[in-house]
Amino acid sequence: MTGAEEWQGRVGQNWAAEWERTDRSFAALTPHLLAAIAAEPGKRVIDVGCGAGELSLAVATARPDAQVTGVDISEELVAAARARAQGLGNVSFAVADASHWQADGAAPDLYVSRHGVMFFSDPPKAFAHMSAVAAPGARMVFSCFRPASENLWAMDIARLLPPGRPAPAADFPPGPFAFADPDHARRCLKGWRDVTFQPLDFAYVAGSGTNPVADALSFFSRIGPAAAAIRTLPDQARAAFERGLLELVQSRCVGGRVCFPAAAWLVTATADNA
Ligand SMILES: C[S@@+](CC[C@H](N)C(=O)[O-])C[C@H]1O[C@@H](n2cnc3c(N)ncnc32)[C@H](O)[C@@H]1O
Repeated sequence: MTGAEEWQGRVGQNWAAEWERTDRSFAALTPHLLAAIAAEPGKRVIDVGCGAGELSLAVATARPDAQVTGVDISEELVAAARARAQGLGNVSFAVADASHWQADGAAPDLYVSRHGVMFFSDPPKAFAHMSAVAAPGARMVFSCFRPASENLWAMDIARLLPPGRPAPAADFPPGPFAFADPDHARRCLKGWRDVTFQPLDFAYVAGSGTNPVADALSFFSRIGPAAAAIRTLPDQARAAFERGLLELVQSRCVGGRVCFPAAAWLVTATADNA
């Protein structure tokens, strides 16, 4: 479970410091998401849970006549996004909880998100609000993870944990796998119709450069389930976990990159608010 408090605290700070490597981890997914977004009309675009802003910046660059607003609950991530947006006039960012935030001025006609909608404490309420404040028939395109069992960056690391540590949850709390099950996701998408799910497999890049193994170990020590384990396990268990992590990362190092199989949904929907 990753809730608002964590994003406003340590997790958000780490993601802000690590935006280059988190963008890299999604590099094989992002072009597919951008292609799905490009197929949609929209001049008032909201990037939900925009993080350090890569998607907002790409959409604003591709649509010079649109106004793009990235919304994120983490001050540090919005500061990182603003710093990256220097010189781009049609993008702005707001520090806010997207589940009850409302844009000034014209209503949004397109919501986009790269893995930023899975953390609402009350998803049906959040999506109903987003629909209610959108333009009639607004569209939404977002990516999210499919189940942990198909995302080896999570499962392989979970297997290294000592017995008794929680495995990736199967009951959809706020967190990376909140919308892994389409039936559950559909129930959460209150106020939206014509919901579609397109599966997309991609390589989650954890390490590259001159020493990809060291790079991946350093990345995992800041981001994701390994970071939490390294921070919280007692000394002996942590040492065993780190040995296992090294072997895992070495086994995944091929062609100068450390990659893990990852599985996402590309979700589209129409606001049922006309
Ligand atoms: C997995 S990160 C993805 C960030 C970014 N979209 C990217 O692709 O790099 C999830 C993001 O959702 C944000 N977030 C979580 N709950 C939120 C909420 N209720 N409203 C706005 N942003 C939220 C987090 O702060 C974080 O930046």
